[in-house]
Amino acid sequence: MGIIIHEKEKQFHLFNSKMSYCIGVCPDGEIGQLYFGKKINEDQIISYPQTKGIRPVCCNLKENENYSKELALLEYPAFGNGDFRKPAYEIMQKTGSRVTNLVYKTHSIYHGKKAIPGLPSAYTNSDDEAATLEVLCVDEVAGFEVTLFYTIFENYPVVCRHTRIKNTGNDEVKITKALSCCIDLPDNEYNWLQFEGAWGRERYPAERSLSHGITSIESMRGHSSANYNPFVIVKRENTDEDHGEAFGLNLVYSGNFIAEAEADTYGKLRILMGINPGWFEWPLKTGEEFETPEVIISYSDDGMNSLSQSIHHFMNNNLVRSPYKNKPRPILLNNWEATEMDFDEEKILKIARKGKEAGVELFVLDDGWFGKRNDDYAGLGDWFVNTEKLPEGIKGLSEKINELGLKFGIWIEPEMVNEDSDLYRAHPDWVLGVPGSTKTLGRHQMVLDYSKKEVVDNIYSQLYEVFSNASISYVKWDMNRSITECFSQGENAEAQGTVYHKYILGVYDLYERLMKAFPEILFESCASGGSRFDAGMMHYAPQAWCSDDTDGHERVKIQYGTSYGYPLSTVGAHVSASPNLQTGRSMSIADRANIACFGTFGYELDLNEIPDEEFDTVKEQIAFMKEYRELLQYGDLYRLSSPFEKNLAAWMVVSEDKKTAIVAVYKNLKSPNEGQQRIRLRGLDEDRKYIVNGKGEIFGDLLMNGGLSIPDGDEPWYMGNGDFSSKLYVLKSDVTK
Ligand code: GLA
Repeated sequence: MGIIIHEKEKQFHLFNSKMSYCIGVCPDGEIGQLYFGKKINEDQIISYPQTKGIRPVCCNLKENENYSKELALLEYPAFGNGDFRKPAYEIMQKTGSRVTNLVYKTHSIYHGKKAIPGLPSAYTNSDDEAATLEVLCVDEVAGFEVTLFYTIFENYPVVCRHTRIKNTGNDEVKITKALSCCIDLPDNEYNWLQFEGAWGRERYPAERSLSHGITSIESMRGHSSANYNPFVIVKRENTDEDHGEAFGLNLVYSGNFIAEAEADTYGKLRILMGINPGWFEWPLKTGEEFETPEVIISYSDDGMNSLSQSIHHFMNNNLVRSPYKNKPRPILLNNWEATEMDFDEEKILKIARKGKEAGVELFVLDDGWFGKRNDDYAGLGDWFVNTEKLPEGIKGLSEKINELGLKFGIWIEPEMVNEDSDLYRAHPDWVLGVPGSTKTLGRHQMVLDYSKKEVVDNIYSQLYEVFSNASISYVKWDMNRSITECFSQGENAEAQGTVYHKYILGVYDLYERLMKAFPEILFESCASGGSRFDAGMMHYAPQAWCSDDTDGHERVKIQYGTSYGYPLSTVGAHVSASPNLQTGRSMSIADRANIACFGTFGYELDLNEIPDEEFDTVKEQIAFMKEYRELLQYGDLYRLSSPFEKNLAAWMVVSEDKKTAIVAVYKNLKSPNEGQQRIRLRGLDEDRKYIVNGKGEIFGDLLMNGGLSIPDGDEPWYMGNGDFSSKLYVLKSDVTK
């Protein structure tokens, strides 16, 4: 790993054993893209790609007709100077001009990586894990400078990029667009894989080819959204799970975003990602700086399984911060689906006691414990205990839960307020919205104006009081509606374009303060399920409630799609009651657990209500999870068969030493008289003999090339169980040939 500079040619070559990322100073002084892909020889000097066209193209250099920005591959391009594609940034100057021209000024290289003030970002555990290149570019006329940041990591095919803009002129300017990165590629024969959905069906993969024109996904909801996730894969058409070239872009940000691909008519491709420029205007006074969020750019030349594994390990080691980093996650029991808001202390303790008997480790009290919260019309904003439900407070309840031998966790939704709350009555101007105009409600609640420091301070004090007076080990931080009418009351007109971004900075600030005050708390983020499942959140909350849809069959699809861009350790997954609350579908307790165990694992039902026989199964499931959770949360994941393409979906995890693996198969619909199928496994040691579910000995090479037979005998789960059945196969090996 390193960064080589070819001084004479002004080229920078970032590389590790798997990938190279090469940039250089173009003939007109702007920074251009030279190569991004599989590792190449770092001594290679790269000649510029084609920049001369037959007319009509604009020529950017009087003395060199061979250079036109229209054809150049650029690292941080502007519009209006001869490049007619979508720009990475735009700056409105005092004169009304938006014309900008950045040229290279200087650069610096160092070991390690700097944090981005106020924003989540990847980090190094020691300086020798990564090298960073900062390239400073200036526009003397418009009066600003831009620093492009690139960090290459030793252990993963990953480069992190972001940008800092500084006003160096005499007048205030206004940034109207500041994306995190641009990647210009010399050809456009790629497909675009996005992860889309809605509440209850988050992150379904959807692929399309990038023919000429613009492909774009975005969020303008104030959070990253269930509709389009801020993660995309750009891949060759034939790239599959195990072969071919692909790269991923994870935006480390939880607010409005855009991800765009522009395939131009010269056969080139531009990829852009960053804060959505919609309703974004950031005034910058002389000397002030604006720093963008970063993008994690990952690369693979051997398929998407390998790409996902790099992202998984990278996030676990270099993005997540928590005492639970790389540690098995506690098995929890959450009361939401069992009681909703209708509970008292005895009801909660009864559920918790049964959980303890089953072997769970953490009890989570969900919505309904505070203010006048008996339904979703009241209480949000009032973070003090409802003593009618819990006479001894959170303190008393948490102590009783601890006495049972369980840790205690709690639900909060700190960004929201109900009209019927003390907080709103005292501070009606603390919500987003235009005074006198309609304020759109979502789940009967309004959004607090987190761009105001006093609002964040108030919520911090309230939560500090609750957390410091009780024994709290875990917090589920929810966010149940999108932002509308984004207007900060009392703020001046010029500041209104900053509100969406300042809102999310306020959220990050509150997380940061709470994490500092309560470093032992495990945070789980949630936004009506998986509406804020993004790399930004993972820097604060190492796990996220993946979806409110806990139907086992639906979860196979949701978790399969999620796995492309996020590690299993981040996936909040629970067994809930059957028939399922969201779909009405019935599934056995075994099938529900067979998908929930590929995540943080827990239960979301009253275990007192299930038959004894099922309760015994629950005990076995928890014991199984305790034995294998390190593998199930941190092992190398291989997607084997997609639920979006096949009736039989499958995936597996393999331990680092390849001695243990768990394969899961999930059948969708049953058809009669089915033939035997084979699932070809991945990632095993071909010379090891594996015992599968305690039987036989099969070499890894046969399991990978011949496959695992499904079913491998007269197995009722497959033959007679009807629709939506599943099975886990545990592979163990102590013997090599
Ligand atoms: C959201 C969450 C649920 C639950 C409820 C409580 O919908 O996703 O898990 O916490 O809020 O109101």
